[in-house]
Amino acid sequence: MRLSKKVVAMAMASMMVFSMTACGNTADSTPANSEPETEAPATEETDTAEAETETTDAATEEAATDAAEDAADAAAATTGEGGNIGVCIYKFDDAFMTTYRNALQEILEGKGYTVTFMDGKNDQAEQNNQINNFIAQGVDALIINPVMTSAADQIIATVKDAGVPTVLINREPTAEQMAAYDKLVYVGCDARQSGTMQGELILDTPNKGDINGDGKVSYIMIQGDPENIDAQYRTEFSVKALTDAGMEVEELDLQRGDWDRNKGQEIAQNDLAKFGEDIEVIFCNNDDMAIGALQAIQAAGRTVNEDIYLVGVDALDAALNEVASGNMTGTVLNDAQGQAEGAVAAMEELLGGKTYAEGEQSIYVDYVKVTPDNVADFQ
Ligand code: BGC
Repeated sequence: MRLSKKVVAMAMASMMVFSMTACGNTADSTPANSEPETEAPATEETDTAEAETETTDAATEEAATDAAEDAADAAAATTGEGGNIGVCIYKFDDAFMTTYRNALQEILEGKGYTVTFMDGKNDQAEQNNQINNFIAQGVDALIINPVMTSAADQIIATVKDAGVPTVLINREPTAEQMAAYDKLVYVGCDARQSGTMQGELILDTPNKGDINGDGKVSYIMIQGDPENIDAQYRTEFSVKALTDAGMEVEELDLQRGDWDRNKGQEIAQNDLAKFGEDIEVIFCNNDDMAIGALQAIQAAGRTVNEDIYLVGVDALDAALNEVASGNMTGTVLNDAQGQAEGAVAAMEELLGGKTYAEGEQSIYVDYVKVTPDNVADFQ
């Protein structure tokens, strides 16, 4: 069926009240070790649009503003039976992005869109081809998780030339780069916040991370892909939270683990062999690397929260289980569900004709600290 003007107006009205900072009540539903799908099939859902029409509440209908109806005209014209959406993911084989991708698929298909996901395989050239193919196929909108943040200029120029409304996710370009195209918006998180929260998790321990009482916190940092702003900010702000609180710190090692569990395990194993008891804290830029580091910690006969602390980011199911059983000091919820909802809401606004001014093209979802005290809320 074709979406009626009213249904689309309703969607527009509800989008206007969508709160991007409302998060923290959702947790990842995909275990970190689940096998990511290799190809998500394109599917068509038309029933949902009908269901939405039936469940439309009359009172809420009244509340749909004229502005929303105007925007709906544009959206209805553009989206037809829900519209064709192309989604480019930097690589399918990433635990967090698998959770995110599944959330996007459920939301988009639930809203009646036809959605096709492409695996960039961590190769920017491959992703560029995928973007060009989507444009050639005439997709109504694109959602792109860039392989390289440094490729943002090129990606933005391409989608602008084609005039395709685009939502960038997970890897944030600069405000100046995004200003080149007003039908473009970024939905993600401010990674400084997650870094700060990791530092706070350590400050909240009984000895503030200084297990051996020598007056300084000695740590190793297992970084994601250093090209990625999330990796840069988490690395910087986790340590800054400690120094801002007056703690002395000593960096024993910093290595890139590329967000990867096996690399996290290898780096931790080597460092534990090299620095032994001197390591008091292992900071990991994400949970998958922290799970790897935990394997190395346990193999070395060390005990988290007794003689070493370990923190990650994402709140993958596997990490939540380790926090609950005391094998991780804590993690930080990277709200995949909230970001996916935000990305789709922003995409629908773009489809409705909204344009974004410079400096207003980044929409953030909050991170949430996860400790043994509140972990049950996320499981
Ligand atoms: C997540 C990582 C993920 C990366 C991909 C980060 O925000 O914390 O787990 O690998 O995004 O870009």
